[in-house]
Amino acid sequence: MTYTNLLVEVSERVALVTVNRPEKRNALDRATFLALDDCFTRLAEDREVGAVILTGAGEKAFVAGADITNLAGLDAFGAREWAVLGQRVFSRIEQMTKPVIAAINGYALGGGLELALACHLRIAAEGARLGLPELKLGIIPGNGGTQRLPRLVGKGRALEMMLTGEPVSAEEAWRIGLVNQVVPRGHLIEAARAMARKILTNGPLAVGICLQAVHYGLEMPFEAALAWEASQSGLVTGTEDAQEGFRAFVEKRPPVFRGR
Ligand code: COA
Repeated sequence: MTYTNLLVEVSERVALVTVNRPEKRNALDRATFLALDDCFTRLAEDREVGAVILTGAGEKAFVAGADITNLAGLDAFGAREWAVLGQRVFSRIEQMTKPVIAAINGYALGGGLELALACHLRIAAEGARLGLPELKLGIIPGNGGTQRLPRLVGKGRALEMMLTGEPVSAEEAWRIGLVNQVVPRGHLIEAARAMARKILTNGPLAVGICLQAVHYGLEMPFEAALAWEASQSGLVTGTEDAQEGFRAFVEKRPPVFRGR
């Protein structure tokens, strides 16, 4: 896969995707959104890939937001189309049945934080700053931020971040549950790889089904979500991998999962 604004490399079943516009703090222009869309569509289907790490090029930013120069001059319908494009790309990432880990190296602002929120797990480097500054520009987060941030950190904290527009530090992001881990700068990608490796030792079908059980279940009424969980649990328990997992436990050896 070759893209102008995206680097993709796969090793040991982990794809490392790097948004590569460091001179613009990795701001997401239309071409980068389309590249992410194509890239994640392919990664979803790629049998060699079991997990994805998403990061930004350079020392300064993960992604400093949607490209403001693309936004300026849009009329209401153009801006709605722009929001829908971003939402489509981020939902594609969120709905992946492989774990996607955001490795946040610096600024994750606006669309950059919204991108990280669409990932399943987030690891921040010390010194990272995370925020939704859209109101400072006279607009609102339009790529899922008004919905995903309150679901993750609660309405009060999400509204404070949006209404003030002030970013939080990596440590504060960890304290409020916005990121899963904070690590020293030079260890970010290794920490993300370690997390990916841990997940990859588990049954791949179970990983995918778990991601879907949580994602769709959270949107359902509770009793319906429990019924959905039971169905998904039944589905995965009927696989060869589950039988292998049970056998390996009894035989006191590591399981060998085949994704069947
Ligand atoms: N859209 C378009 N261009 C952006 C951008 C964005 N979201 N964020 C940064 N850039 C560009 C700058 O315009 C500048 O371009 P130039 O060199 O052609 O002038 C370049 O990236 C470097 O940015 P600069 O502000 O000089 O870097 P910095 O390290 O001093 O500051 C930020 C980094 C992220 C704090 C600052 O760039 C910023 O506040 N960006 C906008 C964040 C934002 O409001 N995002 C929400 C958008 S909806």
